[in-house]
Amino acid sequence: MIIDGKAISQAVKDEVKAEVAGIVSRGERVPCLCVIIVGDNPASQVYVRNKIKAAAYTGMESKLVELPAAVSEDELLSQISVLNEDPAVDGILVQLPLPKHIDEEKVIDAISAEKDVDGFHPSNVAGLWLGKDCIVPCTPAGVMRLLDSIEYDLRGKNAVVVGRSNIVGKPVAKLLLDRNATVTIAHSRTADLGAVCRQADVLVVAVGKAGLITGDMVKPGAVVIDVGMNRNAEGKLCGDVDFASCAPVAGWITPVPGGVGPMTIAMLMKNTLRCYRSR
Ligand code: GUN
Repeated sequence: MIIDGKAISQAVKDEVKAEVAGIVSRGERVPCLCVIIVGDNPASQVYVRNKIKAAAYTGMESKLVELPAAVSEDELLSQISVLNEDPAVDGILVQLPLPKHIDEEKVIDAISAEKDVDGFHPSNVAGLWLGKDCIVPCTPAGVMRLLDSIEYDLRGKNAVVVGRSNIVGKPVAKLLLDRNATVTIAHSRTADLGAVCRQADVLVVAVGKAGLITGDMVKPGAVVIDVGMNRNAEGKLCGDVDFASCAPVAGWITPVPGGVGPMTIAMLMKNTLRCYRSR
């Protein structure tokens, strides 16, 4: 069966929209998300446009800061500092990746943890790993919401996460662990990736390699969540999972597009509302 990320993300956005409508009807200040994009990476431009569009859909305010690829690190940091101090701004997101001359870690550290809607700031990362109630990165939160949509009970299940990035692999592994799954993180150096994946009741793939996971690597009946966003030779969007060979083996599977992708943006709206509320 297919997990319809498009429909589930719509439901999440509608939850946020209803809450924002309540805020507006009480005459309170409207939440505001600020997105910063540096340079003209076409994929980043599409993502950012969709984030601004989603904010408008929910009724939130948004602000787009577009900086040239050659902007200095200092200039970017000073823009962030202005937004940190701006009482009308609830969430700050700097779209990644950044040009090579800018230190991403420095930029993430500079965003006020209270406005860090991505959940990338070290104090939010620490909070997640210490089991505190903190801002959770959008894509991992979206993956969990997809599992919740099928009412999947993770207790005692084998979850395999392929990929160990700070944005997806590591945080999603922690969230699965919090639900009492037995979690394995596989990566590019894993010996016999197929054998590891075949143990998975839940397989989450986030590496950025088109078609890495094939049907022979999937346990019959498993839940397969594809976080990949790749372009194939014809320029078509495709995931890390070879859908054609995996779908007949899996119990549940997310498509690309229309799976995890729209969830990321929907959870960003949730995170923005959360930052607004805690401020
Ligand atoms: N680039 C790819 N994914 C993300 C994300 O979740 N947040 C930001 N800021 N940049 C990204």
